[in-house]
Amino acid sequence: MSKYPKINYIGNKNKLTYWIVDNFPYSKGTVLDLFCGGCSVSYALKEKGYKVYSNDALYSNYVLAKAIIENNNVTLNKEDLDFHISKKEIAKKYKDINFLENRLYFPNEVEELAELVCKSAQLKDYKKYLFLSLIRRSMIRKIPYSRMNVPWNQIVKLRDEDYSYAKYKRRRAYHNLPFIDHIYDNLENYNNSVFDNNQNNMAFNYDAFKMIDSLSEKVDVIYMDPPYPATMNKYGDFYGLYDNIFDKGIKYTNFSENNRFLDNLEKLIIKCLPKTKYIVISENNKTKPTISEISTMLSKYGKVEIKEKKHQYKVTNKENKNETIEVLIILEVKENK
Ligand SMILES: C[S@@+](CC[C@H](N)C(=O)[O-])C[C@H]1O[C@@H](n2cnc3c(N)ncnc32)[C@H](O)[C@@H]1O
Repeated sequence: MSKYPKINYIGNKNKLTYWIVDNFPYSKGTVLDLFCGGCSVSYALKEKGYKVYSNDALYSNYVLAKAIIENNNVTLNKEDLDFHISKKEIAKKYKDINFLENRLYFPNEVEELAELVCKSAQLKDYKKYLFLSLIRRSMIRKIPYSRMNVPWNQIVKLRDEDYSYAKYKRRRAYHNLPFIDHIYDNLENYNNSVFDNNQNNMAFNYDAFKMIDSLSEKVDVIYMDPPYPATMNKYGDFYGLYDNIFDKGIKYTNFSENNRFLDNLEKLIIKCLPKTKYIVISENNKTKPTISEISTMLSKYGKVEIKEKKHQYKVTNKENKNETIEVLIILEVKENK
């Protein structure tokens, strides 16, 4: 049976996806997941049989959407990776990506990564995107805290297994394994996530505004889980170095600035109105702008309904362990007669 793979995405909706999807105003049709991130909602939508369009500004999320949302039946085998890359080619790529050296990884690890990046360039279509998703997974597994903006001296300290054991009673030896070990470890898990829902699902890598501009048809639902201000929202810092390796970084609107969020969201909503029947927004009672501020803004454009669910986010910081009320704000777009 197909299963959402191990992705480990900050801000993911993993435990809430079925609740979100079950509360959608439409039980079939086309849904655009505009800020798809680690694709957890896209995946649940695909499982439910929707035609899913997944978009995110980060290339690392686009490769995931290609591999597990758009891809309906292609898997990757160890034998697909069984070809040789010349020393010269590896040395050239190593030069391109040596900005990772003593920033995320040790020099010998950057060299291994250079070879894997060269290999990815030789693979075709969905095999390539599965491999790129597995490179992403391996990169994340090797970094303490699973994000790319941890200072190098911290990384070195936390990757010292004796230090980690003395301090946290965990060696975290997986940080020190080669990339390829993580890739092989996760291969079956990623292959098992590939399934066909008999829809022509698609992945996109645009700024949210550009995505709406490029949408040539009207969809049934646009789902939004944007980066809210004052949350763990620095997605470019968390994962952007991956995009840089492949020279795929794009410019995009910064939604997380506190004083501009509601303005930007309203501009985006206005752009979406002619392109969808419903807009569904994920929010919770801890974030700003408040649920009531967003609902008031939305009510200018149609009928607003709110669904709530109590949820306990898993966080290490004890003070944050309070229960959160997770909310879906659903706008039924007023028809322009
Ligand atoms: C809260 S996360 C989405 C998490 C996702 N629902 C999941 O379950 O994994 C917000 C996402 O918005 C993306 N993003 C930020 N600004 C964007 C923009 N201007 N256009 C498109 N995507 C953007 C970030 O890269 C991030 O992946």
